[in-house]
Amino acid sequence: MSQPLSDPNEIKAVVREHYGNAIQCASGCCGPTSTSCCGPTSTEVALYGEATIATLPADMVTTSYGCGNSLALAQLQPGEKALDLGSGGGLEVLLAARQVGPEGFVYGLDMTDAMLETARRNMEKAGVTNASFLKGDIEAIPLPDQTVDVIISNCVINLAPDKSQVLGDAFRVLKPGGRLAVSDIVFDGELADLPVSEAELRTALSWAHCFAGALTMADYRRLLSAAGFVDVGLEVTKRYTVADLRAESDGAELLTSLPDVAVAALDGRITSCAITARRPA
Ligand SMILES: C[S@@+](CC[C@H](N)C(=O)[O-])C[C@H]1O[C@@H](n2cnc3c(N)ncnc32)[C@H](O)[C@@H]1O
Repeated sequence: MSQPLSDPNEIKAVVREHYGNAIQCASGCCGPTSTSCCGPTSTEVALYGEATIATLPADMVTTSYGCGNSLALAQLQPGEKALDLGSGGGLEVLLAARQVGPEGFVYGLDMTDAMLETARRNMEKAGVTNASFLKGDIEAIPLPDQTVDVIISNCVINLAPDKSQVLGDAFRVLKPGGRLAVSDIVFDGELADLPVSEAELRTALSWAHCFAGALTMADYRRLLSAAGFVDVGLEVTKRYTVADLRAESDGAELLTSLPDVAVAALDGRITSCAITARRPA
């Protein structure tokens, strides 16, 4: 049996290559029939609403790889300082920058050069000046202690090999009383209930497509509490059927190594979750 990816550097390399290729393709229009280049797709409209997307310049690359709307969860206020972990093409940073207004500021943090380049181009096109895109790893956030009011993140924490490091560093950079508002892929229930081992399950899923590295709900709560967060909330916003999982993985060989009974048991167990928590005041 092949093993799930476990070397942190290998995981990050796979993720970086996947998202670097994806955004270069979206920015450069991959082939004459591509529809996802330059301009919103149905994903962005479904996540953020037509009216919000219509406020953005038509020629910016709005490609989103999120699994929810962490911005809606965050309820940003004018003057706040926010940080987006794994900011991708920058869509949520730019929308957030408008919400916090000229007195506020938003940082986007990403480790993939092509994503950062696209995000910076988008920022210029959108005329946003109260934001900045930083290169770095969400496991070692390049900001001082207690500097941000709100952390948002959309479908990224599952991609980090060391989630407890990510949540610990998120806690560190939040001001006392600061909030965490995250959309992420999460397993509902205990993996031990499935008729395959955790290693077999994770091998049959894809890290880059955000499934293989997902925490269980119980582990998410445990790691958030261990990092010091309080008022932890996890709410399922979408359940993925097996067909959804395969469709979201655009051609990657997913679940093929599992017996039918295990595939059937997975139906609806992988979810998108809205996750909220707070650093005590
Ligand atoms: C699924 S995409 C989501 C992008 C964006 N949040 C969105 O909603 O479109 C994941 C992003 O996280 C970045 N990423 C993944 N792991 C990271 C890490 N350890 N440190 C920094 N960025 C990371 C990837 O480069 C990619 O841009």
